[in-house]
Amino acid sequence: MSMFMAPSSISINLTHPFSSLVNLGHPLNNKPVRKTKNTNIQCTLHSPNFPKQPYNKPLITNEDSDTTNNKPQWNPFQKAIASIIDNFESALNSRELQQPLRKTADPRVQISGNYFPVPERPVVESLPVTGTVPESLNGVYLRNGANPMFEPLAGYHLFDGDGMVHAVKINNGVVSYACRFIQTERLVQEKKHGRAMFPKAIGELYGHIGILRLILFYTRALAGILDLRRGNGVANVSVVYFNGKILAVSEEDFPYELQITPTGDIVTVGRYNFDGQLKCAMSAHPKIDPQSGELFTLSYDFSKSYMKYFWFSPEGKKSPEVDIHLSAPTMVHDFAITENFVVIPDQQVVFNISEMIKGGSPVIYDAAKKSRFGILPKYSTDESSIIWIETPNTFCFHFWNAWEEPETNEVVVIGSCMTPPDSIFNEREEGLKSVLCEMRLNLKSCKFTRRSIVSETNGEVMSLEVGMVNRNRIGRKTRFAYLAVAEPWPKVSGLAKVDLVSGEVKRHNYGDGRFGGEPFFVPRENNNGVGEENVREDEGYILVFMHDEKTWKSELQILNAVDLKVEATVQLPSRVPYGLHGTFVEAKKLLGQVLETKEKVEVKN
Ligand SMILES: [Fe+2]
Repeated sequence: MSMFMAPSSISINLTHPFSSLVNLGHPLNNKPVRKTKNTNIQCTLHSPNFPKQPYNKPLITNEDSDTTNNKPQWNPFQKAIASIIDNFESALNSRELQQPLRKTADPRVQISGNYFPVPERPVVESLPVTGTVPESLNGVYLRNGANPMFEPLAGYHLFDGDGMVHAVKINNGVVSYACRFIQTERLVQEKKHGRAMFPKAIGELYGHIGILRLILFYTRALAGILDLRRGNGVANVSVVYFNGKILAVSEEDFPYELQITPTGDIVTVGRYNFDGQLKCAMSAHPKIDPQSGELFTLSYDFSKSYMKYFWFSPEGKKSPEVDIHLSAPTMVHDFAITENFVVIPDQQVVFNISEMIKGGSPVIYDAAKKSRFGILPKYSTDESSIIWIETPNTFCFHFWNAWEEPETNEVVVIGSCMTPPDSIFNEREEGLKSVLCEMRLNLKSCKFTRRSIVSETNGEVMSLEVGMVNRNRIGRKTRFAYLAVAEPWPKVSGLAKVDLVSGEVKRHNYGDGRFGGEPFFVPRENNNGVGEENVREDEGYILVFMHDEKTWKSELQILNAVDLKVEATVQLPSRVPYGLHGTFVEAKKLLGQVLETKEKVEVKN
């Protein structure tokens, strides 16, 4: 999970929770009738320039994706249970929709404008390019995001949608584009039913109705109407390349393996468990040590007061799990590594199911809990050597890097400190801010200090969110970070290259009515491969999707990371919704993927 909820800026009057979908001619069914009641919603997610053309039903081209020829076969008992649950669920939806939905769960807010889903797009080749694609940039840029295939039944949050990956393949200056749903177990099942069946984790699991939805969900599972044995994740947060695999990841499930075909299309191979070694969900932001090639990750469970830490060798062998005990089930979206340590945030956004019984959200900010960071040696086999350092009033959703400074006994952590801490999940009057900070953790004195890296302008510090440092220097001291300027929140009006030492900011603005997302930095490699010697930290290119809300066109921008000069723009054949995180897989790594795909296709046929 990641990202943004909005402060208010545009006022719209709506009377139907899916009116934006209905007005667009959304072809999907399930349009509950809501009592007429004017609801004045303030939001920045709604675009006043929504396209006039109707929304097209997702284009499903895979044979096994046909929703009409693959209906589930039920016995009489299952049919009876399914009918009872469906009727109960319809009544529940009607009841829920009689009240104004929370802004954080209102589909009119959450999937309006360029957050609205798009259909799949098979490969379109030889796209028009303005400028010149850098010669050294060969490979595929993959970006994940939430893109619901089926219309929400009731509540929906920006992070609840099915994972969709957008792929831009670059081959010696020739560029192609495709986007595909990730064929998760839940999506495959929902396609058979022809509608949404799994609860939306944030949008629907709220208050008493959320509890009832959980009961219905598990009753369907007990009756064999839904199969939960292979997870229920949406795989919509990030894309990671590790040990020859391209993995789409979200933190509530196992990753899903993807492969890229020779033409640049995206194929879901399946739910990936690291050859049977993975037994629990893993972070959507695992960290790969650029020198050792090891992958480090965390896992949390909304019902357990501990998290798990483990890692994989470069060849994919999993370490034993280390249980990190906490005072409450805690949400941990991201973490950091240094050369020798893993930095584990134990912050104040926690899960408390009893809050649902009281009628609220199970994800809350617990002011009574102490925020702290744990510093654990990477190869620990238990938690006994962890050093906990209190980090008052600190909540970071994302961390960009960390490193050790032995001369002062400090671990330095670079992250964006978000306030209010739970405002992604719950409505808050205070506007959301995410401030780039340097945090110093003294391993001897256990002292914590924090400073904002970028100076205020007119009394305001810019919100800087999704982005990164040079991935070849993760865990080592870095000078530059490339981050999205998340203003006006939650939209991204530009990208910033920040000097982490001086606080100097170089900024690239997309222009009036134009917004982007996570800037992805592709570091230049030296002639010998991935090594860094003799290559400047900021040598490389930034890739970012940009959408123009006036023309309703999307493009890929390629910038020189040294001076932020635009080297090339690629006109994309269809709209790319604002999304989450991505990666770039170089052509030489892709080669193995392509061959493997071919083998699998031949075997399957
Ligand atoms: Fe994230």
